[in-house]
Amino acid sequence: MLKVLVIGGGAREHTLVWKLGQSPSVEEIYVAPGNAGTGLIAKNLDLKPTELETLAQAAQERRIDLVVVGPEAPLAAGIVDLFQGRGIPIFGPNKEATKIESSKVFAKGLMQRYGIPCAQSRSFSSFGEARDYVKAEQPPIVVKADGLAAGKGSIVANSTTEALVALSEIMEKRIFGEAGDQVLVEEWLTGKEVSLLAFTDGKTVVPMVPACDYKRACDGDEGPNTGGMGSYSPPNFFGAEMIDMVRDTILEPMVRAMAKEGQPYKGVLYVGLMLTDQGPKALEFNARFGDPENQVMLPLLEGDLVDIMLAVLDERLDKMEIKWRDEACVGVVMASGGYPGSYKTGFPIEGLDELDEDILVFHAGTMASHGVIYTDGGRVLTVAARGRTIAEARDRVYSNIPRIHFEGCHYREDIGAREVPP
Ligand code: AMP
Ligand code: GLY
Repeated sequence: MLKVLVIGGGAREHTLVWKLGQSPSVEEIYVAPGNAGTGLIAKNLDLKPTELETLAQAAQERRIDLVVVGPEAPLAAGIVDLFQGRGIPIFGPNKEATKIESSKVFAKGLMQRYGIPCAQSRSFSSFGEARDYVKAEQPPIVVKADGLAAGKGSIVANSTTEALVALSEIMEKRIFGEAGDQVLVEEWLTGKEVSLLAFTDGKTVVPMVPACDYKRACDGDEGPNTGGMGSYSPPNFFGAEMIDMVRDTILEPMVRAMAKEGQPYKGVLYVGLMLTDQGPKALEFNARFGDPENQVMLPLLEGDLVDIMLAVLDERLDKMEIKWRDEACVGVVMASGGYPGSYKTGFPIEGLDELDEDILVFHAGTMASHGVIYTDGGRVLTVAARGRTIAEARDRVYSNIPRIHFEGCHYREDIGAREVPP
């Protein structure tokens, strides 16, 4: 029987804990730091995901058999290297391999050298050169900070002025700190966006079900960017042929490229795609599961996530059969009033025990005190449901959400709506 430690405290991690906990080989799950939802099904440890040394000690003391990392920050800080050095089995790419997410310039360089379809772009470490280049190009144009910027580092600029402001903020004002040491200036692509993630052991690449996420705060993709307001899987415009094509032209070539560069990549490889007239192109790579994609993908995974992860660690993914339910899943994020701007927390959440049995509630910013669950962050819950179709899953989610209440709560009403045939 295995003891598992999940790192992170959002709804992505609650989903991981929920799914890992269904494995018959799991005896105990710890989460650092977790939230009120994970506290109901696992043991929360009051440790930050970037306190690597303390986390390693906690894992050793508790004789953890498998560590699963949710967010990118600990991966980029080298949690996998540290834990491997101590003999603690951990699922995820090491620090160098995480550069596919933590350095957009590095990832783009690989894509260009290995012929992986992506937007044309140039990288700059000098503000003056970047500025001259932007002035000479036609807008719209995309400006990207090289490093991790909490999902805010890519600016789609509709005018040259907007692009120059973005460049100045990133490179001169350094709003993202050293993430702005370099920038990419990139061709603007149009099309539908899809997230495709895969398990890989460095040799075999097994795509998961595709998913779409919604980044804007308000219905109709209006309002400011957020960490994600909902998601659904699978999109009806991205079928098995497209999955195979992206595996063959983007995911496998990327994994082979990493191996060839001496940085074998193991874990979850996430590509954000733009489906252009010339076919799917990679917008970005991430080194982890998606949020809020995970909340609709893992409920569709049949079988044992622990088995898959152990197969990745042992490099025997080719022997695994990974199956997905032939169903759809829709997840809607309930957020605090004011999010993604400033918001208040500490409001009691009511109605969680009044939901239909098949509704899944994954917590993010929540905390428990004396048996009451309170809001404790911007994104508070992801409410998800499966169905035979997106429309059915959508109906289930939206008929249950009004039963949940906390002061100021807001959510999008249109998650998965465009997927419903007219
Ligand atoms: P990224 O941080 O690279 O994932 O980009 C965040 C978002 O910016 C993507 O989900 C797209 O909506 C948009 N984006 C990024 N790169 C481009 C591009 N080259 N053309 C158009 N939109 C882009
Ligand atoms: N849903 C976007 C991400 O996980 O990066």
